[in-house]
Amino acid sequence: MRVLAVGVATLDVVNNIAAYPQEDDELRALSQRCCRGGNATNTLVVLSQLGHRCSWAGMLGDDPASQQILLDLDNHQVETQWVSVHPGGITPTSYILSSLATGSRTIVHYRDLPEYQTAAFEKIDLTSFDWIHFEGRNVVACEAMLNRVRQATQSVTISLEIEKPREDIERLLPFADVVLISRAYTTGRGYEDAEQLFKGVRPLAGSALLFAAWGEAGGWLQTADGMSVHQPAYQLPVVVDTLGAGDVFNAGVIDGLMAGLEPAEVLAAAVRLAGEKCARQGLQFA
Ligand code: FRU
Repeated sequence: MRVLAVGVATLDVVNNIAAYPQEDDELRALSQRCCRGGNATNTLVVLSQLGHRCSWAGMLGDDPASQQILLDLDNHQVETQWVSVHPGGITPTSYILSSLATGSRTIVHYRDLPEYQTAAFEKIDLTSFDWIHFEGRNVVACEAMLNRVRQATQSVTISLEIEKPREDIERLLPFADVVLISRAYTTGRGYEDAEQLFKGVRPLAGSALLFAAWGEAGGWLQTADGMSVHQPAYQLPVVVDTLGAGDVFNAGVIDGLMAGLEPAEVLAAAVRLAGEKCARQGLQFA
């Protein structure tokens, strides 16, 4: 299937450390890698490995890191025709501590690049996609893009990632067929569990399928008729690296729904895929 994702790519500088430090500590990394990251492109790279034809719409700078990102996407057959380049722009960079003791990832993100613009999105031939995935970020621009998709075509499925509790992000919910919600949003909005989350989100989300990734507790979904399903996490002997696990969960949901699986089967497949990711470094599955 043909998938377009609108969102970010980053440069991830990942320091593998034995255990998470105390504030003001000085410690040596066991190893380091610099790779492409960013939610939307992480999800696409996995979808591409699952056999889908993927395109990314997002913003890049014109520094060497942008070249590294384009090369990685090219290596994963993710098409970049709709990418905008901001002259003089610096690639958003994440400085990440990945703890070998727990697999946790702590991210300090620096961004000084404009968000992807509606004007660039207007040029995309939306009818050439079966699925369009949005990272819910700059609410005003995102809302305009979602509006355009709804007006341009009825045949495309829209998924929306709600990762952070950004101001007015809920305005985007009515446009989505599938909403992918993170725990950071859930706790940020003060919901204590998935039931509370779904109750809060449902009135705006209409008949969308709601999915919530729940880290070591697996994931949840709620169907339009209010039925909730929990899927416990995949048990791993060792958690190696959780960086991007949520993005992989999202790829698992999109892939499962495109394959026509039932919602509970989709959730199980997405939790399994996210678990498989946590057993390895990076996002290379084959
Ligand atoms: C993981 C990730 C990283 C990136 C950060 C951006 O989900 O996409 O690859 O640095 O989040 O917020």
